[in-house]
Amino acid sequence: MADNTVSDKCDNDFSIRQMTTDHIAGALRVFASHGLFEANYSVETYLKIDGNGFYVAIDDITKEVIGVCGGPMLRPDLAFIGLYAVDQRYSGRRIGQKLFHIVLSYIGNQQNVALFSVPDKLGLYRDRLGFRVVSDQTMVIYTGTVANVRQCSTDADSDDGIHVLTQLTDDLIDRQIVDYDRHIHGLSRDRLLGLSLRESGCRRAVAVDNNNKQVMGYGCLRVHSSGATTLSPLYADSPQVAKRLLSALVVRDDSTGSSSSDSSNVLQTKNQSFYYYTLHTNPMAIELAEQLGLDKHEECRLLFRKRIVPVNYEKIYSILSPNFSL
Ligand SMILES: CC(C)(COP(=O)(O)OP(=O)(O)OC[C@H]1O[C@@H](n2cnc3c(N)ncnc32)[C@H](O)[C@@H]1OP(=O)(O)O)[C@@H](O)C(=O)NCCC(=O)NCCS
Repeated sequence: MADNTVSDKCDNDFSIRQMTTDHIAGALRVFASHGLFEANYSVETYLKIDGNGFYVAIDDITKEVIGVCGGPMLRPDLAFIGLYAVDQRYSGRRIGQKLFHIVLSYIGNQQNVALFSVPDKLGLYRDRLGFRVVSDQTMVIYTGTVANVRQCSTDADSDDGIHVLTQLTDDLIDRQIVDYDRHIHGLSRDRLLGLSLRESGCRRAVAVDNNNKQVMGYGCLRVHSSGATTLSPLYADSPQVAKRLLSALVVRDDSTGSSSSDSSNVLQTKNQSFYYYTLHTNPMAIELAEQLGLDKHEECRLLFRKRIVPVNYEKIYSILSPNFSL
């Protein structure tokens, strides 16, 4: 975390505006100054899904982004609030409260809303902001290095009836993966996945059953705003499928399997840091993190404003986004 002293404080006036793609880099910088991250190109995807749900605070003099909050309507029955942060030089001036409330008023009172709460904000969200439904799901953030993951993924047994593809056709993405994902989330996320799996620099893999050709899981590696690599998501029918996907994504060095607009190699160095965002209620996912030698970094509780949205948690090894989606 940045250590800004009182002398760093800035009292310039500010304005609140709807966020555009021009603000993404500044917003991620403010978020990162608190040790919080998102995949670099994913914010653009969520802006495309629902740009009306994102707001930034801009310093009127320097024109820098100094605060951000997003609450896209991801599905008809749920908005997700995330990317909530204010530059510490401007803290305590109600910038955060204004951003959060404008997002909440966009979403509306009747709508269900979810968020992952960092530990020190749980009381604020639950008792003061109406997120009364505290689910038993906790996002557990694990970190390590790509070298850790490579070492442990190479021993995945490849003679197991699972075929892993890294060259993904439009039909695989738009029909077969969307269909697999629908059984996890209970509804089609075709638009979100269509954009997300084609993000710049996104390296993708899908596991297919050799016998019946059904999808058994899929995963993506992405460039993270910390400079690390993030696994988002990794969904799989079993730990063996998860390991095979991980192996295909992490072990090879080339950039095959990345989206066509890939402009950067997602795995630049062997010692590059690695982020894995899992759920503590999936013991197989926790065991995988431990087998990979990753360290537990932080835990964030999943809260809802109205009701818990059921999801097939057993297949989620690493979530799609720590800010906007399981
Ligand atoms: C949370 C954060 C965005 C608040 O921004 P801010 O502009 O500094 O805060 P404000 O001046 O609007 O509010 C100050 C007070 O209201 C609380 N507050 C924060 N957001 C609030 C909200 N949406 N509604 C009501 N109160 C809120 C703050 O906790 C603080 O209370 P305190 O003085 O008792 O500690 C900022 O502290 C931050 O960036 N924190 C680190 C990132 C983070 O934890 N994000 C949340 C991830 S779940």
